[in-house]
Amino acid sequence: MTQRGTTLTQYIIEQGRLHNTSRGAFTALLNDVATACKRLSNLVRLGELAGVLGAAGQENVQGEDQKKLDVIANEVFIESLERSGLLAGIASEEMDAHYPIPAAYPRGDYLLAFDPLDGSSNIDVNGATGTIFSITHHRDASAPGDADFLQAGREQVCAGYCLYSSASMMVITTGHGVAGFTLDNSVGEFILTHPDIKVPRQTTEYAINSAYARHWLAPEKRYVQECNAGVDGPRGQNFNMRWAGSMVGDVHRILCRGGVFMYPMDARLKADGKAGKLRLLYEANPMGMLMEQAGGMAHTGTQPILDIQPDALHQRVPVIMGSADEVERLVQYHREAGNDT
Ligand code: AHG
Ligand code: MN
Ligand code: MN
Repeated sequence: MTQRGTTLTQYIIEQGRLHNTSRGAFTALLNDVATACKRLSNLVRLGELAGVLGAAGQENVQGEDQKKLDVIANEVFIESLERSGLLAGIASEEMDAHYPIPAAYPRGDYLLAFDPLDGSSNIDVNGATGTIFSITHHRDASAPGDADFLQAGREQVCAGYCLYSSASMMVITTGHGVAGFTLDNSVGEFILTHPDIKVPRQTTEYAINSAYARHWLAPEKRYVQECNAGVDGPRGQNFNMRWAGSMVGDVHRILCRGGVFMYPMDARLKADGKAGKLRLLYEANPMGMLMEQAGGMAHTGTQPILDIQPDALHQRVPVIMGSADEVERLVQYHREAGNDT
């Protein structure tokens, strides 16, 4: 029975008791993640007052312009996590290869992959941003290599994100449902406010960047056309569209009130030789686990995201996730189109 005012730490301990798993190290690890998120939440809140807005003047390994806060967020996470003795290595969107735990600190048996600041183009305009993380086991006693991070999403022991918006919220799963915590700045704790998040099966809301409509493949064109035809179209109901420009913002909204989020394969990505836009290990997999745990679905159009065996640290994938009925419909449209992406 969850009590009012339950902190993130208490929740993890209680979940451990409930599911008969020893969670000492794991609780400490999540505390470190929470501390890093609290530090970032403060910086995001202060914005220009902390001098964190604007471009870093350099690109990351994927050729994307980094914002100052992308770089700062990466550093804050590493500083907060490298000394714990609980991690064997850290992989990040902002780093070419994984970050080995320095020899000065003990090496643990968890691996952390993360997107330090998701939706970073929103930061300068005070829009929603977030941090996404994924935790897997490192089962080998030796120091990990990049290849050790290449585990299918079903192997994740914990996944979550912290949303920096009107309130900062941590949303996590350890494989037993999804729980949301709101940061109470007056006590500096994430407090359980959304105990068992479930995505409604049906929805009247979708999210996709329609500026790429001319590049979409047939299944997404059909789906969006049918939604936009509204009450007079084949769906017989009106739909609404929302696009936050931050996967964390969009996924959070969908977890709260349903919807479907799409960043699918399109002709533009294909022409650029990209397999998608979003990254498997630190965007699609953790969000996919949250969606499935909340009763939703996460798919590429041809296979469940969590079933993909990764072959590269920064691998990209098409993403369709959210309310189960809508994802199933899109998968059906892909099947009918004979689409192999
Ligand atoms: P990031 O800021 O970590 O690079 O991620 C941005 C991602 C995702 O959050 C968002 O849904 C999407 O990119 C937006 O892409 P477009 O600008 O192409 O719409
Ligand atoms: Mn991102
Ligand atoms: Mn990012």
